[in-house]
Amino acid sequence: MRPGFDEYKSVSKGKQLVGAEIGVYRGIHSLELLDNISNIKKLYLVDNYTKEWNEGNAYVDAVARLHPYREQVTWLLDDSVNVILSRWLS
Ligand SMILES: C[S@@+](CC[C@H](N)C(=O)[O-])C[C@H]1O[C@@H](n2cnc3c(N)ncnc32)[C@H](O)[C@@H]1O
Repeated sequence: MRPGFDEYKSVSKGKQLVGAEIGVYRGIHSLELLDNISNIKKLYLVDNYTKEWNEGNAYVDAVARLHPYREQVTWLLDDSVNVILSRWLS
């Protein structure tokens, strides 16, 4: 488990969490978050998977890896700046 996970848990004190991972790649860290922090209600997964980062189809790999949590995640396949400006700061 990566450092910081215990802190998320203690700060949230069991409240339902909504978060985002900016840059998901193969979903390894997203899966660690979902496996280890049980009070995540929603995790937004932001990635634009440009050609440079989608070698070997990283997106398909991530979708498969995160399938057990499909009800908790929402994919936003766009540049992170666009997502932030259009969804969260507008
Ligand atoms: C180093 S990987 C992320 C690894 C992941 N966080 C983990 O720990 O398993 C970087 C990812 O960021 C994504 N990325 C890079 N620039 C981006 C941008 N401007 N908007 C959205 N995603 C971006 C890439 O497509 C890639 O999948």
